Amino acid sequence: MDKHVSETVTDFILNGDHVSATPIAGERLSETLRERLGARDVKIGCNAGDCGACTVLVDGDPVCACLMPAQQAAGRSVETLRGLAREDEITKRLSESFQNLGAAQCGICTPGMMTAAVALLRNTDGPNEEQVQDALGGVLCRCTGYRKIIDAVVAAGQAEVPMQAEGHAGESIRRLDGLGKVQGTEAFGDDVAPAGTLEVVVIRSPFPRAGFTFGDLDVFGKTAGVEAVLTAADVPGRNVFGVIPAFMDQPVFAEEEARFRGEAVAAVVATPEYARDFDPATFPVTWDERAAAQDVHAAMAPEAAQLHEGRDGNVMCGGFVQCGDARAAIAEADVTVEGSFRSGFVEHGYIEPEAGFAELVNGRVEIRACTQAPVMDLDSMEIILGIPRDQIRIIPTGVGGGFGSKLDISVQPYLALGALKTGKPVRICYSRTESMQSTTKRHPSDITLKIGATKDGKIMGFDFFGYFNTGAYASWGPTVANRVPVHASGPYQITDYRAESKGIHTNCPPSGAFRGFGVPQSAIAQESLFDELADKLGIDRLEFRINNALENNMPTVCGQVFEQGVGIKPCFEALRTAWDDERTAAETFNSNNDTLKRGVGIAGGWYGCGNTSLPNPSTIKSGIRTDGTVVLHQGAMDIGQGANTVISQIFATALGVPVAQLEIIGADTDVTPDAGKTSASRQTYVSGSASRLSGEAMRAQILARVNASEEAALTIGNGQIKVTDQGTEHVIDLSTLTADNEGYVLRAEETYDPPTKPLDENGQGIPYAQFGYAAHLVVVEVDTKLGTVKPLKFVAAHDVGKAINPMLVEGQVQGGIAQGLGMALMEEYLPGRTENLHDYLIPTIGDMPPVETHIIEEPDAHGPYGAKGLGEHVLIPTAPAILNAIKDASGVRLTQVPTTPSRVRAAIKDKNNGN
Ligand code: FES
Ligand code: FES
Repeated sequence: MDKHVSETVTDFILNGDHVSATPIAGERLSETLRERLGARDVKIGCNAGDCGACTVLVDGDPVCACLMPAQQAAGRSVETLRGLAREDEITKRLSESFQNLGAAQCGICTPGMMTAAVALLRNTDGPNEEQVQDALGGVLCRCTGYRKIIDAVVAAGQAEVPMQAEGHAGESIRRLDGLGKVQGTEAFGDDVAPAGTLEVVVIRSPFPRAGFTFGDLDVFGKTAGVEAVLTAADVPGRNVFGVIPAFMDQPVFAEEEARFRGEAVAAVVATPEYARDFDPATFPVTWDERAAAQDVHAAMAPEAAQLHEGRDGNVMCGGFVQCGDARAAIAEADVTVEGSFRSGFVEHGYIEPEAGFAELVNGRVEIRACTQAPVMDLDSMEIILGIPRDQIRIIPTGVGGGFGSKLDISVQPYLALGALKTGKPVRICYSRTESMQSTTKRHPSDITLKIGATKDGKIMGFDFFGYFNTGAYASWGPTVANRVPVHASGPYQITDYRAESKGIHTNCPPSGAFRGFGVPQSAIAQESLFDELADKLGIDRLEFRINNALENNMPTVCGQVFEQGVGIKPCFEALRTAWDDERTAAETFNSNNDTLKRGVGIAGGWYGCGNTSLPNPSTIKSGIRTDGTVVLHQGAMDIGQGANTVISQIFATALGVPVAQLEIIGADTDVTPDAGKTSASRQTYVSGSASRLSGEAMRAQILARVNASEEAALTIGNGQIKVTDQGTEHVIDLSTLTADNEGYVLRAEETYDPPTKPLDENGQGIPYAQFGYAAHLVVVEVDTKLGTVKPLKFVAAHDVGKAINPMLVEGQVQGGIAQGLGMALMEEYLPGRTENLHDYLIPTIGDMPPVETHIIEEPDAHGPYGAKGLGEHVLIPTAPAILNAIKDASGVRLTQVPTTPSRVRAAIKDKNNGN
């Protein structure tokens, strides 16, 4: 068809202005808005009506712009967040309450959420929680757990929320980067490329294992609209990447054989017009499907093909921790319990698919993409491109959620290779399906565990073995294999312990980092069996845990002894009232209901912050300019968790100035030192410590200049620093100081690396400088006829050492619980079957009950102002608490997650002899 025939001039009103566009027939309104009219505040999470990120108002009604043909907007009024934020009073109130309550974390869902909320608030004064849930039910958020969004919308209809504004450690200030999120101006991975930029389309294997041969790529490359074709032959450096140097094994483009469905074999760089209509199935490649092993047992079978040389039996690696003699202790124990537990792939499900833009600037390659680890990206690109490191610049965009998966590179090599081969700027944005097919997942697990105890309830022997399906490539598999045996005990004192893990390669997508690195899986086994053990002993389940909980000066299973900072007991104690009250309430409910049964579950968890027994330094730089501007080079990636705010609060506290005074320079490999990766709950602790050191060093320089005491107060600005010390005021005239090549007259760059020691062959040593602790309680309602499970309430206690920003702590807890809920009840990625957000379910606003958060502050000697990490801890106890609550409600012990209604119903029928 002649392209011009299918184009129609479409006039409508966009945010109050008359606009005219010429979309082609059937073009999505979202595309017209984003690509023709520059409304990049309209976000795309799925292009299928599943996520609601693209919600706009059309004649006042919320509409998924990805489902509406642009021509249907003709003559109508379209409003998006950017326009609403400028003019609309309701939106202004809403943006205040979103910021005051911390309702935007990564912010990628925020335009859709706020737009849907505006439609509600225009028609409903002071909506209640249920009305908000109804109105926002079509918009998914993966970060917040929705509770703060509900609160923010309710508050916007009723009252403003007062805020403190000091900004130092311990204060619940607004996010420093929040305004761009609530006004739709923050630029994410797909928001930076100019319209019309060449696009990269990746050709992927449709089979879990297949050989392949290309047809005539030269002929294909001459197709009108195609600018370049990329294959392994176009990789100038090494065709390999990976996050752990000793395990780098993943090719940018597969060679000869693809090892998982969705693996890249080639890419096409083309004009947007060509890319739009291009069907990757027409690419000249012939596939030879081969027998694939998709679970660990099939992969270990003698007939299974070996995925990687030197990894016999497809065993990637293993982990091991042992103290005492677990098996002998179990043999002597008064009671024992044992069980097998399984979990499937869990998809990160961030609302922002991987996306980015690259161009050549003065001969250097600049890559702008969403990432959790810019310097690791640089490391990888140096290897892949085979050019000097200083010829590459990584400038992260906003990150619309990561949760571990954006630690690995994804789009970066395709962008860089495309820009280098064509010499032109290029962009890429994964479709939801290719994001799900090709990026890392939570490791499926297959765990057996046996535990013994004395009759008075002391653990006596713990014997754990876990297989972890690491997929086709190693990614963070070795980290999972090593971390699990260290953590599988949970935060308990166990003197006779044995834990072994093995990571097994399969023809599945690579498993990688996902909040907890395998610990949520092992916690399911351990905390489920703790309930079984307590029940067998006739001991209260909470008391059983408290009786076995670690305390200061008790050795962990790695022989590590903390003299301070062990906060698990206070976490459990914080649940005691709810534990008593909720069980009484559930008993009353159950005595009046036959089909619906309520139960209460608890579980504990711990997590070592930072790398396991490996260096993981962070460096934070600060400077003061001649005019008195205080600049913080803050390179810790904020993926929604709040690093921009928390690390700045720590710095401001250390220097002794208001946080609002800081100018923040974010991650950029040209100008910001390496603050390490945003991973393993390390940023508040490790980068926070570096930030504190930088602030203290800067303060010390200033005080030394005027010989002032530690107690002196600083006022910085207007070209001077006033130092007020015991009633005397000293003034440093900054214009008298010499500026360095960055314009700083004073500077302080400091590095912090957690003190750890290697583990020996029995896993004994000092794996982490600090652990954080957590305990969750959940009330669930089980429909015993349908098998459905509805969480009604969570109570979560978290020992964070020191809450640098309590509001952000609460947000992390709620968001983590939502992800733990999803893992427990609904989420399972099945290659070829659940590759979109329609078939792969994540919790919606209607799935999340209220969360009562107890912040426990058991200070840690290493953490900045006592702070501990939190990001991973927040979901570790959630799934086992839910499984324990299901058992409490229905009497059935589920040992496989997700506990879908069919699995729950089948277990109940089994127990009731078929009823
Ligand atoms: S992008 Fe439109 S609903 Fe997801
Ligand atoms: S804040 Fe909602 S998806 Fe990140």
